[in-house]
Amino acid sequence: MTRTVFVNGAHVPEDQAMVSVFDRAFLMADGVYEVTSVLGGKLIDFPGHLARLDRSLTALEMTNPYGADEWLAIHRDLVAANGIDEGLVYLQVTRGAPGDRDFAWPDPATCPPTVVLFTQSKPGLANAPAARVGWSVIAVEDIRWGRRDIKTTQLLFPSWAKMIAKKAGADDAWLVQDGAVTEGTSNNAYIVKGNQIITRQLSNDILHGITRAAVLRFAREAQMEVVERPFTIAEAQQADEAFITSASAFVMPVVKVDGVALGNGKPGKVTARLREIYLDEMRKAAV
Ligand code: PDD
Repeated sequence: MTRTVFVNGAHVPEDQAMVSVFDRAFLMADGVYEVTSVLGGKLIDFPGHLARLDRSLTALEMTNPYGADEWLAIHRDLVAANGIDEGLVYLQVTRGAPGDRDFAWPDPATCPPTVVLFTQSKPGLANAPAARVGWSVIAVEDIRWGRRDIKTTQLLFPSWAKMIAKKAGADDAWLVQDGAVTEGTSNNAYIVKGNQIITRQLSNDILHGITRAAVLRFAREAQMEVVERPFTIAEAQQADEAFITSASAFVMPVVKVDGVALGNGKPGKVTARLREIYLDEMRKAAV
């Protein structure tokens, strides 16, 4: 089935979905994005993703082209047009295509943003076999730029780090800066020690994960102690459990850190419980 893609207000077949070679995202990665998961045909944690989109746009002095109700309608229409039951909606807003290459930002009055959305169908997303096995991660030095809190399309290093991990036989990389883990290539990182869930505090060093916010809220509600501070790879290797969170992987166990198996090498109980609570609660709140 040919996908239907949203391009600047129109639904077009994917093979006709085009943007200009002068688009600022193509030339300079001058764009921001969001990924929202779809379960049972509904959007998971949609208000969170919209709020972060607004934050990313504001940080880069771009105006949000649509209001919340319009964004919801655009997402719902695209999910329906593509018959998505389980999967993702990818959304990207760029600074537009000024018709030439220039470091200076174009005037938004004459250069409207480019808005693209497409769906990815992923049957079985919530029941991913990987969640029963867990991921292995390796440490890779974090050499990304200093504003990782803005969700830009500038993903060359995360993509490179993912390949370094794959070539080493691992599932992902945990990025390390000044001896401490910042986050995964496209997810937030956690360790579990006793009753404590430990994850790096919010700052410009990491993306403020929407899944992270929800999972920490559920952990506190379940009387777990949440500690927001940096941790090292060595500390992770001594942890009882570890996991990552993202809109596409939800809560995914990590069973091996830089070659060292955690505990019995199987996904941990706390992680499994958080995954279950997250999926249950988020399905209920889906729109
Ligand atoms: N990535 N950290 C980074 C660097 C990310 O790219 C992501 C999300 C997260 C988790 O954020 P959230 O819980 O809001 O998805 C953390 C998305 C899924 C992606 O690039 O595909």
